[in-house]
Amino acid sequence: MHATIVLLPGDGIGPEVTGAAERVLRAVAGRFGHSFTLTSHRIGGAALHAGQPPLPDETREACLAADAVLLGAVGDPAFDTGSSERRPETALLQLRQALGVFANLRPARVWPSLEDCGAFKPEVVAGVDMLIVRELTGGIYYGEPRGVAEDGRSAYNTMRYARPEIERIAEVAFRSAATRRGLVTSVDKANVLETSRLWRKVVTEVGTRYPDVTLEHQYVDSCALLLATNPKHFDVVLSGNLFGDILSDEAGAVVGSLGLLPSGSIGGRAGLFEPVHGSAPTIAGRDIANPIGAIASAAMLLRHALGADPEADAVERAIGDSLAAGHRTADLVADGDATPLPGSAMAQAILDRVADSRAA
Ligand code: IPM
Ligand code: MN
Repeated sequence: MHATIVLLPGDGIGPEVTGAAERVLRAVAGRFGHSFTLTSHRIGGAALHAGQPPLPDETREACLAADAVLLGAVGDPAFDTGSSERRPETALLQLRQALGVFANLRPARVWPSLEDCGAFKPEVVAGVDMLIVRELTGGIYYGEPRGVAEDGRSAYNTMRYARPEIERIAEVAFRSAATRRGLVTSVDKANVLETSRLWRKVVTEVGTRYPDVTLEHQYVDSCALLLATNPKHFDVVLSGNLFGDILSDEAGAVVGSLGLLPSGSIGGRAGLFEPVHGSAPTIAGRDIANPIGAIASAAMLLRHALGADPEADAVERAIGDSLAAGHRTADLVADGDATPLPGSAMAQAILDRVADSRAA
């Protein structure tokens, strides 16, 4: 197979984790006899520092022409006081919109060898396996009007959802649940927000087309509580843009580290794959960041954008086997425990296993 993959390293730890994922993709190409054309382009703070807008035209065009896009992270404290047009994050929102990737899949499962590595009791998190389906191109992230009043003393955003936007993301959630445990938990704040009452109504209608899938509704606040107290309850969590952003970081705590979580955004031109974590500027450039979120995102890219299931399985198996062999980056090690591996060594352990993998 030949595929064109655009790499967007971005800011902070983005370049190092994307570099790790790139090496794994090259190992997959070697092991399975594919030819991947991988090109890197600037985005976010990296583009701003080079005197370009956060999403340069050249980057947008490359992504629109690609089979898939793998992004590291955007966000740079140097631009924290900038207006929306001069913020790294704006690039990501523009890119998601340009690609039309409305469905953000964020799987969160607890690796058996990591049950005791996070802040949660092992018996609470053992066996957690959920999929957060987050609406990605609507809601308060994009609603108009938005802005700052002329006197700078007030600011406003608009949460807006239209029926078709809710329908299509609900379809993704129900279809996913049908291949999993058959439970959709739809998250909203219908006791307060009109958008949430429409959300609940439309999701319920879509649910009637999936008689084998159970639908439950939860307010986002109580969902956040249940995610911490009984995360095993969840199968597919369906949410709007903002609630899904917040709950997926919480899921990072449940699985032991935000650095483990991948995501894939689909439904548009080319799929966009990125770890759930951010640019983590305080640890950037020190080779301590966990590359697994980015590498697992590359596995999602193989599966969802290229239809390469055995290849994706091989990468996911290599991650699980590396963790089972005891490899731990700093985020997975309690203070005072054994010296953690550098991120590059974790990546090497994974790619060695990919290169040696046999078809399962
Ligand atoms: C995420 C990130 C982004 C988001 C930021 C960087 C714009 O937090 O992908 O979860 O809020 O969507
Ligand atoms: Mn986020």
